[in-house]
Amino acid sequence: MKHQERVFSGVQPTGNLHLGNYLGAITKFVTLQESHQCLYCVVDMHAITVWQDPAELRGNIREVTAAFIASGLDPKKNIIFNQSQVSGHAELAWVFNCVARMGWLNRMTQFKEKAGKHKENASVGLFSYPNLMAADILLYHATHVPVGEDQKQHLELARDIAQKFNVDFADAIKAAGIEDGLFFPQPEPLIQGPATRVMSLRDGSKKMSKSDPSDMSRITMTDDQDTIAKKIRKAKTDPEALPSEVDGLEGRPEAANLVGIYAALKGCSKQDVLTEFGGAQFSVFKPALAELAVEQVSPIGEEMRRILNDPAEIDNILRNGATRAREISEPIMAKTKEIIGFIQ
Ligand code: TYM
Repeated sequence: MKHQERVFSGVQPTGNLHLGNYLGAITKFVTLQESHQCLYCVVDMHAITVWQDPAELRGNIREVTAAFIASGLDPKKNIIFNQSQVSGHAELAWVFNCVARMGWLNRMTQFKEKAGKHKENASVGLFSYPNLMAADILLYHATHVPVGEDQKQHLELARDIAQKFNVDFADAIKAAGIEDGLFFPQPEPLIQGPATRVMSLRDGSKKMSKSDPSDMSRITMTDDQDTIAKKIRKAKTDPEALPSEVDGLEGRPEAANLVGIYAALKGCSKQDVLTEFGGAQFSVFKPALAELAVEQVSPIGEEMRRILNDPAEIDNILRNGATRAREISEPIMAKTKEIIGFIQ
């Protein structure tokens, strides 16, 4: 089956949207809209795998949508929607719950990190989370998935699920008229550029994350200019000057992180940054980085605030996106049911 190139990605509405989400994912979404049909999903069903206050969840769904648009995603060109409005996500996730093996999910490092010592008390949804993620992608036969590095293992699982489904149902797939048996495509992760894993500003060994208790560990998309500059000024560094070659960043996680952030914001390579700043102290580099971050990020925050003033308009965009998403997913879900043997 010849699969048309199609992009899908998702962001959880769990608050504190940060520079890692922006550089690792959202900026890539913006580039891809020029060349591909793209679906960008606010994955509210993923969010509730850990407790969410209902009023906050509603606000956070709108906030992620506003961030998409403020970053330059065109809701006419792309399909922007929230997951729970398209029931196919839940339906296909159930099918995949029956395709994926316990052993596969037991190997997922993100579950281990998120469940921590309280594995017995984690929700069943948190455990089966990667199956829902595979369903998100495969419900649209998406072929390309722009994500940060932390999602790599989940993407590999999605590929395994696609393949196992195609093998388990090989005869039924042929009977449904798909001669080459490739009903689900193998989605390819797109993990590229200098900021696929942005680290905490307080600890270069930890990923920048929405759930870090320290607000100083991350730059959020809604931070004002002074806050952005202050967080960069206070970011942890080492006492050495910047090296002039990328190899010199080895063993210097904080320096590597700030150089990576600068490169991603500027749209150049880490080496380009070091060619310019090699030999400079952080007392020189940090103000340059702060200026660049303020210039790039704070207008997006301002635009988000403006968009958020009209929640009804955001809700319209999401409803419209869901209608268009269903047009693609419904025939694929119907075919999936036919292949499985469900009567429709
Ligand atoms: P989420 O909501 O945690 O993050 C959204 C996107 O941001 C990337 N990201 C980062 N990139 C670089 N540095 C960081 N510190 C950083 N932190 C987060 C993530 O890799 C992601 O691309 N499971 C997904 C959401 C999801 C999804 C999908 C993604 C659900 N279904 C289908 C792609 C396709 C997640 O929790 O992302």
